[in-house]
Amino acid sequence: MTVYDSINDAYDLVYTDVHEKVPFVVDILHKYQRKEILELGCGSGLFTIPLKQKGFAIEGLEISPEMIKVTQKKEPNLILHQGDMRSFNLPKSFDAILILSSTLTLLQNHQEMNQCLHCSYEHLKPGGIFFLELPNHAVEIAKSDRTQEFYANEDSSIIVVTQSLQLEKFWREYWYIFRQTAGEFQKDEITCDEFLYSPSLLLDDLQKTGFKLLETYGDLFGNEFDEKQSWRRVLICQKI
Ligand SMILES: C[S@@+](CC[C@H](N)C(=O)[O-])C[C@H]1O[C@@H](n2cnc3c(N)ncnc32)[C@H](O)[C@@H]1O
Repeated sequence: MTVYDSINDAYDLVYTDVHEKVPFVVDILHKYQRKEILELGCGSGLFTIPLKQKGFAIEGLEISPEMIKVTQKKEPNLILHQGDMRSFNLPKSFDAILILSSTLTLLQNHQEMNQCLHCSYEHLKPGGIFFLELPNHAVEIAKSDRTQEFYANEDSSIIVVTQSLQLEKFWREYWYIFRQTAGEFQKDEITCDEFLYSPSLLLDDLQKTGFKLLETYGDLFGNEFDEKQSWRRVLICQKI
């Protein structure tokens, strides 16, 4: 059972603004004329589904069977692979691979991240685009350490409280999920850890794997990256 199997249908209650970020991803894919796309850790399809609707030949890879079910319910025609982004083996290669919403940092250390970089490299066509959206942890933690957030669906049958906390190696988010069935609330406590990666080490590893950094942005709205201000670190790389 993975962490996201438990999060399941509560995910979309928390991430309500993803549709606002899709146009930037579309612009980048158009800019580099990419059509055949793979999203790793595609979750509930918040990017995969609109990108398919925009005409991209997109497939998703996801470790959690429950998240795959959530996506399939929304879009039955999407090609989804159940697999691990550290060690997948698909019978084709792609024009671009996306890893969005901090998903790369759900891996536990640089060695695991490296396994994912290598596997992604192997699944890209020559010149393929590797598109990473990561947290800029220093800024994010300075502004939101120990904050709590509250979310509920329309009839309050699902309620989510998240609380963040910095640890030595991880940026931890607790998810308390209350689901109501037949008048009874059932409570799940889930721990989501983002690895506090070293940006310079990651850039070195990307280069050693055979990627060239083309562009860096501060978010998925196309704003410039500012080390001291940006919450996000968006890296557009190319297989050389
Ligand atoms: C933060 S969510 C992001 C979902 C989606 N990319 C988005 O932006 O809405 C991370 C997703 O990555 C998946 N995931 C975590 N570790 C994974 C792994 N090793 N291989 C494949 N998927 C993984 C989780 O199950 C979860 O659905």
